[in-house]
Amino acid sequence: MTNQDKEKKYAQLVKEAVALLDGENDMIANMANLAALIHESMGFWWTGFYIVRSGADGIGQLVLGPFQGPIACTRIALGRGVCGTSWQRRETIVVPDVEKFPGHIACSSESRSEIVVPILRENTVTAVLDIDSRYLDTFDETDAHYLEQIVRLLEK
Ligand code: SME
Repeated sequence: MTNQDKEKKYAQLVKEAVALLDGENDMIANMANLAALIHESMGFWWTGFYIVRSGADGIGQLVLGPFQGPIACTRIALGRGVCGTSWQRRETIVVPDVEKFPGHIACSSESRSEIVVPILRENTVTAVLDIDSRYLDTFDETDAHYLEQIVRLLEK
C-alpha cells in the first residue's frame, strides 16, 4: 500500500469512527466497535485495547479489553512490553521489528511489527490501543497520526 493509499484509507476510517461513536458514550461498546472497524478496514493481525485497572494488590496494570484477532495475554505491568512502555511514557510507540524491542511481549508468534497509542484522560493514561501486524515495518507516522485522532474519540 502506498502512503497516499494509506492516507486515503485512514481519512475514510476517521469519518466512519466519528459516525460509529456518535450518540454512544459507553467506553467498552465504543472500544469494541472501534477495534472491529480498524481491524476490518486495515487488515491488521491483532487490534485491541488494554485498559488500566487496579490489581488485587492495588497496583495499576493493563488488563485486556475489547479486541479482534487471536487470543492475547490478559495483564501487562507498567513499563513492560510495548504496551506498558507506552503507558509509562504516555506516548505513541512505533515498533518496526518486534524482535528488536527489548522486553516485547509476544502474545502471538506471528506478530512482526506493532504500534501502541495511549488514551489519556486529564493527563493520565486510562487505556492503550495496541495493533500488531504480521509484516515488518507496517506502521509509521501516518498510522500514529490517524490512530491518535481515532483514540481521541474515546477521550471525551
Ligand atoms: N506485544 C504487546 C503485548 C500485547 S499483544 O501484542 C496483543 C507488548 O509487548 O506490550
